[in-house]
Amino acid sequence: MRRKLAAGNWKMNGTSAELARLTTLAESHGSAGCDVLICPPATLLSRAAEALSGSAIAVGGQDCHGATSGAHTGDISAGMLKDAGASHVILGHSERRADHGEGDALVRTKSEAAIAAGLTAVICLGESLSERDAGQTLDVIGTQLEGSTPDGASGARVVIAYEPVWAIGTGKVPTTDQIGEVHDFIRTGLTRRFGAEAGDAIRILYGGSVKPGNAAEIFAVSNVDGALVGGASLKPEDFGPIIDALEASA
Ligand code: G3P
Repeated sequence: MRRKLAAGNWKMNGTSAELARLTTLAESHGSAGCDVLICPPATLLSRAAEALSGSAIAVGGQDCHGATSGAHTGDISAGMLKDAGASHVILGHSERRADHGEGDALVRTKSEAAIAAGLTAVICLGESLSERDAGQTLDVIGTQLEGSTPDGASGARVVIAYEPVWAIGTGKVPTTDQIGEVHDFIRTGLTRRFGAEAGDAIRILYGGSVKPGNAAEIFAVSNVDGALVGGASLKPEDFGPIIDALEASA
């Protein structure tokens, strides 16, 4: 049985003034009946870990370099994230694929580095609107899944997040049938590639305009094991009810 995961991606939002929100979240959802993860900007990582210590809420990074150390100005290694208190790292988010030209091979290298450092890699996949309109969604997802995931992936070390690019920050959400089709397709791909046991243990999150008002409906879809939440994760009054809906679906 896969344990559900509610993950918040703060993206490039938040300064020390926003740390109080984590204390609020820890007070209300510090021992939820599902896993909870917050991925703040790297500048807040260690302080976020401190603010959440004593609660069951984990913290994660939003990216890492594929190398362990060296001459890579401005980059952060997986080991550094771990040292700052992270247990997870988001990799291959569509915003990094678009803003930084990251492709599947690089995402795979980063995921291998993350796992080697003892982190769990949250690997993001998603089609653009033009790809969906052209009927290419499953081809795109299949290619990204194959190319971005490391060999020997396990449920403990890899989480997949399906985030249709056109649903991110837009308020547009795929139908539950569309979400279910892609999640079932990813599950089949995982079990084919990693074997029945590991493939069945890897959690698949949905991401893209998840809000308190649509969370329960999304969490009822087969093979949806939680959510990767952007905007609504910034406020405990929005993220809290999403966590509640996930707990209720378990
Ligand atoms: O990684 C989370 C994400 O891209 C979804 O963002 O703001 O649509 O929930 P949002």
